[in-house]
Amino acid sequence: MKNSIISDWKPQYADNFSDVSLLLKHRLSATGLFTKERLSKLIDVYPTEKYNITTMGYDVENPLWREGTKEGYSGNQVIDAIEQGRMWLNMRGVESVDPEYGKLLNEIFDEFEEYVPGFETFKRKMGILVSSPKVQVFYHADVPGQSLWQVEGKKRVYVYPNEAPFLKPESIESIILGETEEEIPYERSFDDSAEVFDLKPGEMVHWPLNCPHRVENEDCLNISVTTEHWTNNLRKKYAVNYANGILRRKFGVQNPSQGTNNWSIYPKAALALGWRKLNLNKGKQVVRMVDFKVNPKSLTGIEDIEAYAK
Ligand SMILES: [Fe+2]
Repeated sequence: MKNSIISDWKPQYADNFSDVSLLLKHRLSATGLFTKERLSKLIDVYPTEKYNITTMGYDVENPLWREGTKEGYSGNQVIDAIEQGRMWLNMRGVESVDPEYGKLLNEIFDEFEEYVPGFETFKRKMGILVSSPKVQVFYHADVPGQSLWQVEGKKRVYVYPNEAPFLKPESIESIILGETEEEIPYERSFDDSAEVFDLKPGEMVHWPLNCPHRVENEDCLNISVTTEHWTNNLRKKYAVNYANGILRRKFGVQNPSQGTNNWSIYPKAALALGWRKLNLNKGKQVVRMVDFKVNPKSLTGIEDIEAYAK
């Protein structure tokens, strides 16, 4: 396709799209929306409730991270601090902050929908990640459909199977119920079963729903984009996992089925919806604390502050 965002699509990729991981080439940088200059302007106006700035530990088997704030610094200063420090800035829901990114997001999914018959998406979202040299994102799983797009710098992405022992049903239920953030138990030996992608600028990877993954940056600043989406099928799986989480926790049901093709999907979808509407899970959910601020003058790019709830 002329002027397409994906530059190396092949028709056979449609046969098992979202069932297997797929590495593709893209032209996001040609939009000019992901240069340092453009991003620093975006950071300048980015609303507090829509970003996370995070620093993290070194031990891949012992995930520790801290949440910070960038208040008081310009986009340029924040990018400088990230370049010299050890953190990532995740700007969530960019499509709702700046319509230019919203337009691009729709172009991306319209293109995939054209390539893949029957692929119909909604609740599309885009995030932009600016991250320091050598930082890591710990082993975790995301709830919606996911892709990771590399624009600047290099990173190694490990993608693991979306089944036990890599992802136990209880773990995805916990994430969906908000009892834990996206983190799940990880062991080094899992790496033997991982697909490994060394992402370079102009490459993206899309993996099957809920596949756990972790990321290690090379020794350079990284600018990356995440896109997420829902389809009818993904929504059914979500409702089943949500209801299974409630059944397991509140009603002592052992090993509820994860299938979406049997009669139980309907009462499960109703249970999930009802429970959410009544907000019955409130009080069990994780609260993040902010305990550092960006400081481009400090050697680590950050400064400790008194902790407060976000
Ligand atoms: Fe992720």
